Amino acid sequence: MNEIIEFIKKTPKAELHLHIEGTLEPNLLIKLAKRNNIKIPFANVDEVKFAYNFSNLESFLNIFYQGSKVLIKEQDFFDLTWAYILKCKEENIVHTEVFFDPQTHVNRGVNFDLVINGIHKALLKANKEFGLTSKIIMCFLRHLDEISAFKILDQALVHKDKIFGIGLDSSEKDHPPRKFERVFKKAIEKDFLTVAHAGEEGPSEYIWEALNLLKVKRIDHGVQCFQDEKLVQKLKIDQIPLTVCPLSNIKLRVFNTLQEHNLKKMLNAGLMVMINSDDPAYFDGYINKNYIETQKELNLSLREVKTLIINSFKSSFLDKEKKEYWIRQV
Ligand code: HPA
Ligand code: ZN
Repeated sequence: MNEIIEFIKKTPKAELHLHIEGTLEPNLLIKLAKRNNIKIPFANVDEVKFAYNFSNLESFLNIFYQGSKVLIKEQDFFDLTWAYILKCKEENIVHTEVFFDPQTHVNRGVNFDLVINGIHKALLKANKEFGLTSKIIMCFLRHLDEISAFKILDQALVHKDKIFGIGLDSSEKDHPPRKFERVFKKAIEKDFLTVAHAGEEGPSEYIWEALNLLKVKRIDHGVQCFQDEKLVQKLKIDQIPLTVCPLSNIKLRVFNTLQEHNLKKMLNAGLMVMINSDDPAYFDGYINKNYIETQKELNLSLREVKTLIINSFKSSFLDKEKKEYWIRQV
C-alpha cells in the first residue's frame, strides 16, 4: 500500500473538531429510536443514508437535530460516545476534544446532567481501558439567544470538573460571534477556555470577532480567512489553530471538490492547521478518510501530512509534556 496512507493510518493523531452528536451512525440511530420508542422518518439504514444529502450547513443541521432526538437516556449518550471511542482506537486517535450541544437536548426535555454524565463516563472508561485522553467542550447553539446560552452556562458550572471549554456552533450566517460576547466573558471568568466555529460559511469578520470578543484559543473551520489578508497575517503570527474539516466542507458545499479545498494554501501560508472529521457519521468519513482523501486530492507530501498531525497535538489542550511526548512519536 501507498507509504503515505500507511503512515496516516498507523500514526497517533489528535482530533480537535468533533461533535459527539455527529458520530451517531444510522444503525445506532435506528436502534435507539426503537429502544426509546421515538418516531423517526426513516424505516431503515438505507433511508437514513439517502437523507444525508446536503446543500449547505442549514440543510445539514435540520437533519442533524432531528437525528439527535433519539438520544434520551444517560445510556444512550454513553453508547453514542463509546461507539466513537471504538473508532478512535481503530483510527489511532490517541487524544480527542469533543463538542456536545446541551441545548439540543435540554430544550426537548432531556436533563443536562444525564447528557454530560453519559459522555463523561464513556470517556473515563476509555482512558482507563486504553489510555485515550480527552477534553469535553460545551457548545452554545448560535441560532438561539443569549439568555438561553446564559442558562445553559449556569447548568454547566456544576460540571466544571468535566467540561474543559466552551464553544459556539450551529447556523453561522446572521449569527455573529458578537451576539455571545457577554456570555463568553462570563465563561472565561469561570475559567473555561473558549473556541468558536467561525469562517465556515460566514465572513472573515466573524473570525476577527471570535478572536477579539470571544477571546478564543482556536477557530473551528476558519477556511474563509483568505478574504482578509490582515487576518491571515494575524493568524500566522499568533499561530492561532484552525480546526479544518475537509470532508465536511465538501458535503456542506463550502468547496465544490476536495481539489479546490484551500487546506494546502493554508499550510503554505504558514497557518496552524490540522485535519478533523466534524460530524463523521453524517459526512461519511472519520479522521483517516479525511486525511487520506485530502492527501490524495491536494497531493500533500509526507512532510505536509506529518506537519498536519504534529499540529493536531500542538493545537490541543494537552499539557506541554504530553504534547511533546506525542510529537516525538510522530
Ligand atoms: N458547523 C456548525 N455547527 C455544527 C457543525 C458545523 O460544522 N457540526 C455540528 N454542528
Ligand atoms: Zn463543527
